[in-house]
Amino acid sequence: MFIEELANYVGKDVTIHGWAHNKRSSGKIRFLIVRDGTGFLQTVFSEKDVSSEAFALADRLSQESSLEVTGTVRQDKRAPGGYELIAKDLKLIQAANDYPITPKEHGIEFLMEHRHLWLRSRRQHAILRIRSEVIKACRDFFDDRGFVLVDAPIFTPAACEGTTTLFEVDYFGQKTYLTQSGQLYNEPAAAAFGKVYCFGPTFRAEKSKTRRHLTEFWMLEPEVAFLDLAGAMALAEDLICYLIDRVLNERIEELKILDRDITKLENVKKPFPGISYDEALTILKEKGKQIEWGDDFGGDEETVLSQSFDRPVLIHHFPTQCKAFYMKRDPKNEKLALGVDMLAPEGHGEIIGGGQREDDLAALEKRIEEYKLPKQALEWYLDLRRYGSFIHSGFGLGIERTVAWICHVPHLRETIPFPRLLEKVYP
Ligand code: 4AD
Ligand code: MG
Repeated sequence: MFIEELANYVGKDVTIHGWAHNKRSSGKIRFLIVRDGTGFLQTVFSEKDVSSEAFALADRLSQESSLEVTGTVRQDKRAPGGYELIAKDLKLIQAANDYPITPKEHGIEFLMEHRHLWLRSRRQHAILRIRSEVIKACRDFFDDRGFVLVDAPIFTPAACEGTTTLFEVDYFGQKTYLTQSGQLYNEPAAAAFGKVYCFGPTFRAEKSKTRRHLTEFWMLEPEVAFLDLAGAMALAEDLICYLIDRVLNERIEELKILDRDITKLENVKKPFPGISYDEALTILKEKGKQIEWGDDFGGDEETVLSQSFDRPVLIHHFPTQCKAFYMKRDPKNEKLALGVDMLAPEGHGEIIGGGQREDDLAALEKRIEEYKLPKQALEWYLDLRRYGSFIHSGFGLGIERTVAWICHVPHLRETIPFPRLLEKVYP
């Protein structure tokens, strides 16, 4: 029996297993807030209803002690969650002494050291439930549209997103890298299955400390055969609308716990604004940013751009030097790549990166040389341009960035159960 099921048990007796979250007393009554992972429940102990042992236990129970409580479910609009339990019995499973995370404020360093316990806190609990919902919605979106899930490997022989953020792994004496993106493997999968996606952890040795970068993060990547840049942009837009809709429908309680301004999310409707890199540059210059044509957007620029719109914005046609080797050139202007980024509003910045892939063998070979990439390790990738080359596009959605935006939390460290950062691999 779980707290989230209580609506079906009004007037009935139930037993809940959980942990003591908080307590207060008022005269001859003790209120114990119990959490069981699915929710928080107010349990009410009256001296007349329970044994003196159970009453005394409710009185002295320390925070996060594990317990078993039995009682009658009562509907009560004022109770958090809408139900409370009129307790009949209480059993201690294990007494937790000096639980480190008390209801007072703690510094971020301390909380990060205790991430394994911090997960139990209301706010972290709400964020990670939303994360779980977002991931489920991602899968549903693609599964319902006939995409095939094709997993990409984690050990890879070559870089996908530039050689500066590679984690090297000694693979039985051979140099390999942790994957930065499943894209290169999604492309052959698209040739085999038409519409595919992969979803898994990706790794980047990000050497700077920012609120938007993890060294290990989860990416959802669709790839579609015979789809061009405009098609990929439309797909990204549909995906985001679907995710927001799902969270608004299924996780409204969690959004309330986070004090999220729901109207900001309700506003996320098609069509999203779409601007070229050049237009983005104009906006940045108007807002006083010193930036030259050809410069990539950094965190500051992303923040400014993302605050300029009331919903996500799609930025397309980047200078080639800002983008990876695999991006197709704009046939109308060789200086531009057919890439797209989606920036989330409210200052959250890039949540999606993708575009149309180079499908011409000679152009791709030239690019691999220019980018000084190991051609041998990419021969298999070139095969796609040798055997039935095809227009294709896709993108990657960063799960943590997306959750950070939906929850409106500033730092990615709260959006993944156990964040990995430049100086953080514990716990
Ligand atoms: O823009 P990126 O680098 O694109 C790719 O990796 C493509 N190969 C994806 C594709 O086309 N299949 O990364 C995609 C997204 C970013 O928009 C961002 O949301 C997230 O991944 N991301 C990170 N999230 C957290 N920490 C980091 N260090 C991230 N780097 C990228
Ligand atoms: Mg990007």
